[in-house]
Amino acid sequence: MSGAAPLTGPVAMSGAAPLTGPVAMSGAMPVAGPLTGPVAMPVATPVAIVGLHGGEWFGRAAGAALRGADVLIGAARHLDALLPAAAPGERVALAAPLAAVLDLAERRQARGERVCVLSSGDPGFFGVARLAAARFPVAVHPAPPSVSLAFARAGVNWDDAAVVSAHGRSLAHAVETVRRHPKVAVLTAPDQPPETLGQELLAAGCGPRQVTVCSHLGEASEAVVHGDLEDLAQGTYPARTVVVLLALPPASGEMGYAWGLPDDAFPHRAGMITKAEVRAVALGKLALPAAGVLWDVGAGSGSVARECARLAPSLRVYAIERRADDLERLRASSAIHVVAGEAPAAFDGLPDPDRVFVGGGGPAVLDAALARLHAGGVVVATYAALDRAAAAAARLGHVVQVAVSRGVPVGDGGALRLEAENPVFVCWGPQA
Ligand SMILES: C[S@@+](CC[C@H](N)C(=O)[O-])C[C@H]1O[C@@H](n2cnc3c(N)ncnc32)[C@H](O)[C@@H]1O
Repeated sequence: MSGAAPLTGPVAMSGAAPLTGPVAMSGAMPVAGPLTGPVAMPVATPVAIVGLHGGEWFGRAAGAALRGADVLIGAARHLDALLPAAAPGERVALAAPLAAVLDLAERRQARGERVCVLSSGDPGFFGVARLAAARFPVAVHPAPPSVSLAFARAGVNWDDAAVVSAHGRSLAHAVETVRRHPKVAVLTAPDQPPETLGQELLAAGCGPRQVTVCSHLGEASEAVVHGDLEDLAQGTYPARTVVVLLALPPASGEMGYAWGLPDDAFPHRAGMITKAEVRAVALGKLALPAAGVLWDVGAGSGSVARECARLAPSLRVYAIERRADDLERLRASSAIHVVAGEAPAAFDGLPDPDRVFVGGGGPAVLDAALARLHAGGVVVATYAALDRAAAAAARLGHVVQVAVSRGVPVGDGGALRLEAENPVFVCWGPQA
């Protein structure tokens, strides 16, 4: 390990502190001290994690960490962009899998070497710092996060923006966030590229957005493309991309926390939908949690499932339906998981629910749902038929009748008369 500097040199301690927990002792080299007086404790050098953009780092401490490293581990593009004089240590081109990078960093640190892991932008922002800090002491030297550069390229501030990563999760969360929020950055992933995001946003009926697609930010190959959702859906973009989406003023009515949306927001078979006012009551009784699992049994058009997914984007919503035509409509929404089949058999293999809405199916379906319900969970069921409502109320404990009379025009003078709809029973429980 020629060229190694003492542990107490400038790199080891340049203002750095571990992100978490106590300083690890394993693998540390002893520090010489006097025979009497305070005992000098061996201290492991933190692994430096340096954020880069196109071979540039931010700050003196980052530069010192690069210069003083015995070994630098990172993507070839980061290593190639670093001049030898800026980082003379041994270079290991390794960026994935992340576990292998951390294994190597830990091994080399345990040998007493000063290790520097190279990262993009801010390693503490959807980056390597969280996992690394859980394993060994780290000193993080961030460059501006790619999202910061992306908003700069889009020409807008981002203190009021929502930021979503598509790495390791479905795009449903990103889609719902974009639909709901006027200013969003989405960090896309190789298996969830920008064009897929665009296609899913269009399929979800997202309103118009001004789109800026930023690839390879801060590097010589940086590319910034401006357009709209159609351009996003039809384009082809590199894997390392941040997409900035801005709602065009006035912000469309799709955002916010409105519920009980009009029936025509959900394509459906004639009359076969939980009507807006009844749906509003049912959603209230469901008392949606921020996260967890919801089943919409006999989902039909998916109006309930889709409203739940929209109101609580982190909820995993399963829409269970037996009819092929309804299933086709349900599959148009990326925000819900569609389960084809007859309940209760179709419940097999689903995660246990925190909430269940039963829009179709008899007492056997209700009993099966209750048997799977998490403690503290709620089931809401709607019925037109008295006998089924009575059976459900006996099981769930609560029932109301919702009788909606809708104002409809009469004559040409703008007068309205009331037109009654069939009453619906809304049952809920076992919680109040
Ligand atoms: C009144 S509709 C539900 C309406 C739905 N909540 C909506 O807003 O569109 C009842 C639906 O339940 C479905 N259904 C009834 N029993 C079922 C069962 N045992 N398994 C799966 N689907 C069922 C029917 O095919 C129908 O689409």
